[in-house]
Amino acid sequence: MTTVDPVPPTVDPAPPPSMRLRELVFGAACAAAVRAAVRLGVADALGDTPATAEDLAAAARTEPRTLRRLLRALSCQGVFTENPDGTFSHTEMSRLLREDDPHSLRYIALWCTEPWTWNVWPKLDEAVRSGRNVFEDVYEEEFFTYLNEQAPESAYVFNRAMTTSSRQSAQDVAALLDLTGASSVADIGGGQGHVLASLLERHPALHGTLLDLPGVVENADPRLRDGGALASRVRVVAGDCRESLPVRADVYVIKNILEWDDDSTRRTLANVRAAARPGARVVVIENLVDDTPSMKFTTAMDLLLLLNVGGAKHTRRSMVDRLTDAGLVIGEIRPVNAYLHAFECTVPA
Ligand SMILES: C[S@@+](CC[C@H](N)C(=O)[O-])C[C@H]1O[C@@H](n2cnc3c(N)ncnc32)[C@H](O)[C@@H]1O
Repeated sequence: MTTVDPVPPTVDPAPPPSMRLRELVFGAACAAAVRAAVRLGVADALGDTPATAEDLAAAARTEPRTLRRLLRALSCQGVFTENPDGTFSHTEMSRLLREDDPHSLRYIALWCTEPWTWNVWPKLDEAVRSGRNVFEDVYEEEFFTYLNEQAPESAYVFNRAMTTSSRQSAQDVAALLDLTGASSVADIGGGQGHVLASLLERHPALHGTLLDLPGVVENADPRLRDGGALASRVRVVAGDCRESLPVRADVYVIKNILEWDDDSTRRTLANVRAAARPGARVVVIENLVDDTPSMKFTTAMDLLLLLNVGGAKHTRRSMVDRLTDAGLVIGEIRPVNAYLHAFECTVPA
């Protein structure tokens, strides 16, 4: 039988630097614990009533003693809480791991801890030294090619994670963009099309194009696909925006794309300029590393972008420089929400 501590262990909210550093270098254990909880469905198995590790183990089909250890490690981080009688309850963070939570971060948690990430993090020193991605040395392929052709499970997780992020920001983007006078919009690298669908739902006369890689658009949002509510106003294009951009639109939206290597950014913006008529709008939306309330998350993502695509999260200055180099005329730079900024640009005559 599993023994239960009568009182949950206390967690020091402000450990001394020597302990804080020890905790920091064990960051991988935290990430792995969250990933394991998601994959085992522990948060889904726990409802509103506190449950014992034995109950949860039966639902998740695990060993009770090892599940209890996992729950104890997570509870120290505020993901689940251990009650004085040894049962476990949800916290705000653990609820976000449930698949059915309206603000679920399940796929973001999986995405940030996918198997390939564990192979590239140990090479961060190499990437910092060379300034290049290490992904291609490890996997002998470009990141997105690997993802879509070799790692279907990771690609599924990535697309669901991007849709999660888009779902949370799509309404903010739709509210910000004044599309008065525009009859068409194109979302370049628009993932499964959540942002585009929000724009089309808000503007009933608007037509839209979704362009992304073939493996991504074949699973586009059902509203955009044949038979979907918005399908008659949508063109879905499978393509590589660095190669060509066969899309004419009044407004081009480019959200969270231009954080890959500079050459890809240059080629994409050159293709937008070549495809667009003079006066067309180009709205680039990014998380800025120098203007965000979430520095720990954004700087971590910035390093992961270095490792996988040789990219970076932009500063306001670096984004302005890339857009100016592409010959776009930059207008207003506005916050979309606390995490995203929109750079309003125009294609010159
Ligand atoms: C970080 S996600 C952003 C997705 C979406 N714009 C959003 O904000 O949710 C990057 C997207 O770029 C797409 N992508 C990567 N390489 C591409 C390429 N060469 N051409 C077109 N899309 C590409 C990916 O498939 C993915 O959907």
